[in-house]
Amino acid sequence: MPYTVPKLSDFSASALDSAVRGLLSALEQESAAAGSENDWKAFRDRWMARKNGILTQLNDLWLKAAPRDAKRDVGQRVNELKTKVEQTVDATLARIQSGASSGKLAAERLDVTLPGIRRPIGAEHPVIKTMNEIIGVFRNLGYSVEEGPEIETDYYNFEALNFPPNHPARDTQDTLFIAGQESKELRDRLLLRTHTSPVQIRTMQKMKPPVRVVCPGKVHRNDAADATHSPIFHQIEGLAVDTNITFCDLKGTLDHAMKALFGSSVKTRFYPSFFPFTEPSADVQISCIFCDGKGTRDGGPCRNCKASGWIELLGCGMVDPNVYGFVDYDATKISGFAFGMGVERIAILKYGVDDIQLFFQGDVRFLEQFG
Ligand code: PHE
Repeated sequence: MPYTVPKLSDFSASALDSAVRGLLSALEQESAAAGSENDWKAFRDRWMARKNGILTQLNDLWLKAAPRDAKRDVGQRVNELKTKVEQTVDATLARIQSGASSGKLAAERLDVTLPGIRRPIGAEHPVIKTMNEIIGVFRNLGYSVEEGPEIETDYYNFEALNFPPNHPARDTQDTLFIAGQESKELRDRLLLRTHTSPVQIRTMQKMKPPVRVVCPGKVHRNDAADATHSPIFHQIEGLAVDTNITFCDLKGTLDHAMKALFGSSVKTRFYPSFFPFTEPSADVQISCIFCDGKGTRDGGPCRNCKASGWIELLGCGMVDPNVYGFVDYDATKISGFAFGMGVERIAILKYGVDDIQLFFQGDVRFLEQFG
């Protein structure tokens, strides 16, 4: 119900108080409801129009109607109300013009004293950054980059890499198999690749020697996550096949790569190992970068190398001649080496990260340190 000026019959002070309160509350409400300049004009005319505006009505209904002994009091109150109405009408216009009235305008208003919106600049993820550094080292040696699928067949992940049928790496303990593959032949069954070595096979199938490639990518193993294990991690595979490639080339290449990645004072050591697709095979160890290979640090045993002075970093070997049989290379004419390294492991050492999970949790406080 819009406010109408009441006719007064009781002109006592308390009756006038209550009438004034009613009018002021209507004034406030109508002022607050005015959101545009058109609203404001209607508001102003309703209260101040000379002809029949509320102020005019006050003159007629309150002042003129007041008995003589109440005239003074009523006159004073009507004058005060006049001032109040004028002030409110002015203030309402000012509010509307400053844009503070409706929600839309308020949102659009620019407060230049507020701090600006910070748009953090993205940065390479430390794993990708490390990957690119490693790739860079090999690019400088003339290697190119090859990639393969993360969902592989048993053939590329195992069979063509000379894994015997019951090799433990094929076990469900390690390998994540895609469900519903039982009707297929073993070699066609899909799995999440457990290493980047299948890209060796894919590369040799599509190019003839000389081959020099690195193959970066994501790999999966059914490992429980802890500070040093993750079911997803990254590897970079390397493969060089040509005439007369020897173990010396392998040693020289990896020794150079480790020095390029960890500093020229780092030493390498090749430790006998086994992989089905390389023969001979080796694990490469680097001299501990935390204790300079001494095995002791700050008067105690070095924790990073378990006091041995060496840190195991990657697997490698001369490509097993059986593997060439799967890709139609002539094992009597060519030879080659392969290696595979864990990217997170290298990043952990390079950047002093103490938990592999940090790479996968997406915590900006961790990631921004690499920006
Ligand atoms: N694919 C092996 C692994 O994941 C590493 C490796 C690659 C070893 C190439 C020798 C040659 O453990």
